[in-house]
Amino acid sequence: MKIISVTTQKGGVGKTTSAINISAALAEKGKKVLLVDLDPQGNASIGCGIDNRGTDTIVRAMQADINGNFNLNDLAITKTKKFAVLPSNIELSNLELILVSVIGREGVLKRILEPIKDQYDYIIIDTLPSLGILTVNAFTASDYVIVPILAKDYYSLQGYDALMQSVELTKRCINPNLKVLGEVITMYDGRNKNDHIISETIRTDERTNLFNTVIPLSTKAAEATRMGKTILEHDSNGKAAMAYRNLTDEILMRTEEE
Ligand SMILES: Nc1ncnc2c1ncn2[C@@H]1O[C@H](COP(=O)(O)OP(=O)(O)OP(=O)(O)O)[C@@H](O)[C@H]1O
Ligand SMILES: [Mg+2]
Repeated sequence: MKIISVTTQKGGVGKTTSAINISAALAEKGKKVLLVDLDPQGNASIGCGIDNRGTDTIVRAMQADINGNFNLNDLAITKTKKFAVLPSNIELSNLELILVSVIGREGVLKRILEPIKDQYDYIIIDTLPSLGILTVNAFTASDYVIVPILAKDYYSLQGYDALMQSVELTKRCINPNLKVLGEVITMYDGRNKNDHIISETIRTDERTNLFNTVIPLSTKAAEATRMGKTILEHDSNGKAAMAYRNLTDEILMRTEEE
């Protein structure tokens, strides 16, 4: 089984959309998948049609681990789609503050996933736009990191070194297995010459190992988010859904090569 974090400290680049639709595409291909929402914004939960207000979330299990009385019933896993989801909500931001002073703080997520991970082929973790302690928890629990990069942002690779430093530090100090699986260009507008130029710059940058698949800009993607549906459900034959299926094939190839 493999655990993959979708991560970058840049905001609004398509982390959550990618985490949801990679999960959906893996499930479509017959894989057993758990999507973990590790963002206090709870976008992955809402995007999967889960009402996360006042319900049990990942916070319960993480808090129980910190208190030293975690058991399997604390994992509030729900299944509204063909994959399972461990939801989150704003309460996770309070927990983040508590975490800072907890001994063993980097390993909380890893510890709560340990007893259930073998029930899945893939666990996909959606992270918040920060390199703080929650993201370090994601890195500690993961085998791989996937980095979404916005096609239209000339400054896309700015901050990339900081992200890689954080990955390297986690690797050196906590989780030697962690690897960057690749980067994926998101919200690519084929009619926009600028997007093409920036994408090529990122592709030829020696720091990156870009997936061949590019996720196109698509109004269906934004619509799906709003409706609590995956793009694969909302516009199954559209270009964004097809792109996420192709990306997932590449992910399967890169993770199964090992
Ligand atoms: N391919 C796409 N085409 C058009 N809009 C998209 C696409 N992918 C995502 N979006 C929209 O862009 C916005 C940001 O996407 P998303 O929430 O996935 O980014 P994020 O990196 O998770 O953001 P945050 O950093 O806040 O967690 C959302 O409104 C989403 O619906
Ligand atoms: Mg997000």
